Amino acid sequence: ASILLIWAAVGYLLGSIPFGIVLSKLMGLGNLREIGSGNIGATNVLRTGNKAAAAGTLLLDGGKGAIAALLAWALTGEDAAQLSGLMAFIGHCFPVWLGFKGGKGVATFLGLLLALAWPVGIACCLTWLATALTTRISSLSAIVAAASSTVWILVLGFGQVMLLGMILTLLVFYRHAENIKRLRAGTEPKIGQK
Ligand code: G3P
Repeated sequence: ASILLIWAAVGYLLGSIPFGIVLSKLMGLGNLREIGSGNIGATNVLRTGNKAAAAGTLLLDGGKGAIAALLAWALTGEDAAQLSGLMAFIGHCFPVWLGFKGGKGVATFLGLLLALAWPVGIACCLTWLATALTTRISSLSAIVAAASSTVWILVLGFGQVMLLGMILTLLVFYRHAENIKRLRAGTEPKIGQK
């Protein structure tokens, strides 16, 4: 059991690195908290106008979820990998370094799913993409992709990640509460808009 505690801590620490904030500072793009939604994710980094920084944030925030899961899988096993991945997601959403005020976990969710059940991860990425191409709204794409995950898990036969998928889906919805309000009010901006 103590090994699981260690993976929980490693996952959390990896997940808590706020790459959006790090990259936008390094690239001189200003304070993300004062831009757009104030969120630390790739969607909000894109509102600075810097596409490379946004792409880097997406890859690194996704990568940390994948690395957290893959490391634990290689060194301990699948249960450890799921826990480490989940904790990376939690770390991103509630990082101690930012007073527990972190991101919405979408990139990290996709990254850890790609690591744990890659066909499900790909299906969720494609769902995100299809929704984004149709609606041009990042948050809507995120909640549709999250909700689709349990369907993909069933259809593609990855029952071992069903509980994890359900927990992550609930957390993604919870973290998008403000976005859901804006979506209902019709005021949610399109991708790239402030
Ligand atoms: O990944 C977060 C995205 O779904 C919404 O971001 O900045 O529009 O709230 P934002």
